[in-house]
Amino acid sequence: MNNTVAVLPGDGIGPEVTRAAARVLSAVRPDLECVEALVGAAALSKGLPPLPPETRSLCDRSVAILFGSVGLPQYDGRPLKERPEYALFLLRRDYELYANIRPVRVFSGLEQASSLRKELIEGLDLVVVRELTGGIYFGKPKEIRVEEGVEVAVDTMVYRAPEIERIARIAFELARGRRRLVTSIDKQNILESSRLWRRVTTRIAAEYPDIRLEHLLVDNAAMQLVREPKAFDVILTENMFGDILSDEAAILTGSIGNLPSASLGAARDGRQFGLYEPISGSAPDIAGKGVANPVAAILSAAMLLRISLDDEMGASRVEDAVGTAIAAGARTADLVHDGERSLSTDAFTERVLQALSG
Ligand code: IPM
Ligand code: MG
Repeated sequence: MNNTVAVLPGDGIGPEVTRAAARVLSAVRPDLECVEALVGAAALSKGLPPLPPETRSLCDRSVAILFGSVGLPQYDGRPLKERPEYALFLLRRDYELYANIRPVRVFSGLEQASSLRKELIEGLDLVVVRELTGGIYFGKPKEIRVEEGVEVAVDTMVYRAPEIERIARIAFELARGRRRLVTSIDKQNILESSRLWRRVTTRIAAEYPDIRLEHLLVDNAAMQLVREPKAFDVILTENMFGDILSDEAAILTGSIGNLPSASLGAARDGRQFGLYEPISGSAPDIAGKGVANPVAAILSAAMLLRISLDDEMGASRVEDAVGTAIAAGARTADLVHDGERSLSTDAFTERVLQALSG
């Protein structure tokens, strides 16, 4: 069996949280071979492209990718292909990782960390299903050009019906194991791509008579998410709306540092290849200080175990260990309130490792 996991720490807090997650992964599954490679600014700073060929070939031969984060402010002015984020574009595009799954759960004990009232988020459990290889991120043309002496920038939001069908099916299947409600989010009052989105999701819903499908416009959805988040079960949406709404959903849990994700495509050699990453960015302001919250990265490793390695037991052990550590008061700086003591990334990870072996 292929036991290689590509570990791509990347930039900012990526290395700190990804190595924490790799430690937890190795503790649960010593049989895995975690191999690190450069990505993003970490590669660019060595004169390599954002996704160097060696990194790509490691990914090719791996069962899954454990990813940190990419992006640093000093690259902001460069064209896309020379920016760290381009690595993520290539990985998503070339491995066709079209289904981005972002579960949003509030750990018991962390309700006070949320900016919403406790009763609104206590027990919150929803999942964002974000289309990841289409829409405005990838549509062509995508360029800045000069027209009659004026700079013009264009991005193209394009969806083909089969792209909507396959992501809709993922959402409906997921809903079957949950509360059987899919909320599809679009902007059909103004966007043609959203009109197609609504038509296709409605058509696919007919194959799932046991699931309720609701539609919301994205502006309204953004509001409902902070008004009554527990009314959601599965959120199904296109690439950019999913990017925005998943950050909003993440902060409901107290910190964006809590939210894991899985990016999945078609199965490969009978296994579900995937890329697993925290949804938060590289947070350069706190990078290198050893204070970043590794929860999202550790929970991403749990998703890797469950989905790519079919190891439900390993995944639950990791999730339970995080829950136990948090319930016992372990908190990184982003999660403390009212004078609670905060732990470093490493100290928090130790508490998770202790809970694992306990
Ligand atoms: C995410 C991130 C990425 C995205 C960036 C880093 C390109 O924000 O995964 O949510 O926009 O998809
Ligand atoms: Mg994002």
